Amino acid sequence: MSIVNEENRSLEAKYRITSRLYDVLDYPWERQYREWRPRLLSDVRGAVIEVGVGTGRNLPHYHPDAEVTGIDLSKGMLKRATRRSRSAVCTFHPVHEDATVMASVPTSHFDWLVSTFLCCVMPDHLQPAAIEQFARVLKPGGRFRLLEMVYSKDPALRRRQRFFAPFVQMVYGARFDRDTLSHIEQSPQLHVTETHYLKADTYLVIDGLCRK
Ligand SMILES: C[S@@+](CC[C@H](N)C(=O)[O-])C[C@H]1O[C@@H](n2cnc3c(N)ncnc32)[C@H](O)[C@@H]1O
Repeated sequence: MSIVNEENRSLEAKYRITSRLYDVLDYPWERQYREWRPRLLSDVRGAVIEVGVGTGRNLPHYHPDAEVTGIDLSKGMLKRATRRSRSAVCTFHPVHEDATVMASVPTSHFDWLVSTFLCCVMPDHLQPAAIEQFARVLKPGGRFRLLEMVYSKDPALRRRQRFFAPFVQMVYGARFDRDTLSHIEQSPQLHVTETHYLKADTYLVIDGLCRK
């Protein structure tokens, strides 16, 4: 796989280091996320593509009827996901692939597209290209579910997020101010059916389907 974009090349380089420590660094947050992951995936079945699969934190929570293709920019993250998939009941196919290109991913193939904490990492100007790929690889009527962190409107919570923002950007390349929901709303093929928050107004779930 060749990475066409300079920012994705530097993200891949970042994750070469981050992947070694990811599960340790993320542990304080993962204690909360691991309560959410089974609920997020409870109705996900069939051919599934998980974009930005990372170290495979979602994998143990998929139903046995899910056949999961997990794509990621980082080989280090994919290696860890493959290891974690051994304790999963779903089938897992790791693919080294850029979400904005997805050259090796077939068209209209997937029943579900899942992504957790990918778009908060992805620069806003690259998101329309990734969203176009999401629409391409989903079957007509295929569903998607994204989980992203966003800035709270509550001043106290926002102050706390601002405190962590430099760390989160340095280690993960993630930001709280990405505009993912509006990028999806501008897609001619992806339709948002529901949004809700998992905690306060900071962890946003975006649900939808593909009409084409
Ligand atoms: C913050 S981690 C989230 C990992 C995992 N989804 C989770 O919930 O723990 C973001 C992941 O997205 C991957 N990523 C970022 N940009 C990507 C892109 N353009 N294509 C594929 N993967 C990407 C990173 O390599 C990293 O593994």
